Amino acid sequence: MHYQFGHQALNQVETDCIIVTSFTDKNLSIEATTLDKATNQALSKHLDLSDFKGELGQVQMLVHLPGCQSPRILLVGLGEKDKQTRMQVCKALKAALNLVITQPIKHLTFAIESLTSLPANWIFKQIPILVEDAYYQFTAYKSKPKSRCLTDVSFIATSAKNNQNALAEGVAIAHGMHTSRELANQPANVCHPKYIVETAEQLAKSHKLAIDVLDVAAMKKLNMGALLGVGQGSQNAPYLISLSYKGGAKDAAPYVFVGKGITFDSGGISIKPADHMEEMKYDMCGAATVLGVLRAVAELKLPINVVGIIPTAENMPSGSAYRPGDILTSMSGQTIEVINTDAEGRLILCDALTYAERFKPKTVIDIATLTGAIVVSLGPDYSGIFANDDTLAHDLVKAGDDIVDRAWHMPLVQEYKELFKSEAADMSNCGPRWGGAITAALFLDNFTKAYTWAHIDMAAVMTKADGAKDASGRPVPLLVNYLLQQLKA
Ligand code: BES
Ligand code: MN
Ligand code: ZN
Repeated sequence: MHYQFGHQALNQVETDCIIVTSFTDKNLSIEATTLDKATNQALSKHLDLSDFKGELGQVQMLVHLPGCQSPRILLVGLGEKDKQTRMQVCKALKAALNLVITQPIKHLTFAIESLTSLPANWIFKQIPILVEDAYYQFTAYKSKPKSRCLTDVSFIATSAKNNQNALAEGVAIAHGMHTSRELANQPANVCHPKYIVETAEQLAKSHKLAIDVLDVAAMKKLNMGALLGVGQGSQNAPYLISLSYKGGAKDAAPYVFVGKGITFDSGGISIKPADHMEEMKYDMCGAATVLGVLRAVAELKLPINVVGIIPTAENMPSGSAYRPGDILTSMSGQTIEVINTDAEGRLILCDALTYAERFKPKTVIDIATLTGAIVVSLGPDYSGIFANDDTLAHDLVKAGDDIVDRAWHMPLVQEYKELFKSEAADMSNCGPRWGGAITAALFLDNFTKAYTWAHIDMAAVMTKADGAKDASGRPVPLLVNYLLQQLKA
């Protein structure tokens, strides 16, 4: 997709469709008013005569207005004027884009600078994310993908430099989400741990990142008994990947992101029920997020250092699989009694989190489709954030709110560590059902004492909130926006 700013009069813009907006008060936006004058009041006449009420997400396509170059005007309702939220604007634009994307529209023009009371640079950061999201489809295995015509997006705006920057940020985030979705949507018969290694190697090559891949032998040397335990039941060997981006001072402590990369989670010997098991190909979405964040950071050439760590394995039942009752010794030396082989994410993460110490991190953020319990806690549109530092949790929530990639700060209730103690080992790998997202986070807390750390349980947001089996690309926006806000702070 190609994006640009333009300054022409709206009625003279050569484009296939112009998006203009109205609230429920039916007052036209400043841009729409200009167009109304040029078209002999065609827009206001339409408002008088049609059933367009300006309700949130209401869209109407007007064609061939007299005096207007563009053959289409898409009128978009923004809802009540005094109740503007970022979420609302996103909903309205999403409805508009879902219509645009099905039409033979190559060139789309937004005339929306006076869209809302929200800051212009927020709008220019958000729009490419919404455009690419609507445009995206996973076509790798479709003989007849849906047709997509859109190639160019223009903004009629007073293009100040900060708008250009905001647009570049939005485009980079959208690219990061694309990388994440393309990997996450791959089926598990293609996307096994080695495939994640190869994808990371390609990203390293195209975006000039350093990469280091540990195989089983190298992980044995480091005593990564927990990660290796999970991987031992599969024909597809586990790996630990680390990627590093150096945009900051040589000795500046890096932001470290650790992503869960279970390419398929059958549950192992504690096998999952058949219903929805196919969705467990998405159990590597944390890993996909890490690659997406690195791509965005590299494209924006951010002046920071970033390390991405991906422990990747397949959780399978077999004659060589780890069993309930097994005791694993983690890289940290802490021992873990396996109660349920389906609580495998925390096992691969704990060794990766210990490994993270060697990068002397500024902060470590892990991202994982860790528990079904977080979906029960927060429903389908929120990630859960746990942290050993309240400022970090707060900054992440704030970054997510700004870019409409929502997350909620959850408590690390230290007393609940009682719930997963073990008679035989230092701890067990799972607690009771209640508070399952919290006990999972507390398990990780036992391995992150050396640095400030946050854990994002993204199980609910790995696929689209509408239930479609399609990776969402979240929480790439939250994390990249967090880094951007750190730089502006
Ligand atoms: N990958 C799953 C969590 C998950 C569930 C992600 C649904 C996305 C959608 C994880 O490995 C798992 O199986 N967790 C168990 C933990 C339990 C055994 C303590 C769970 O949530 O049931
Ligand atoms: Mn599991
Ligand atoms: Zn899992």
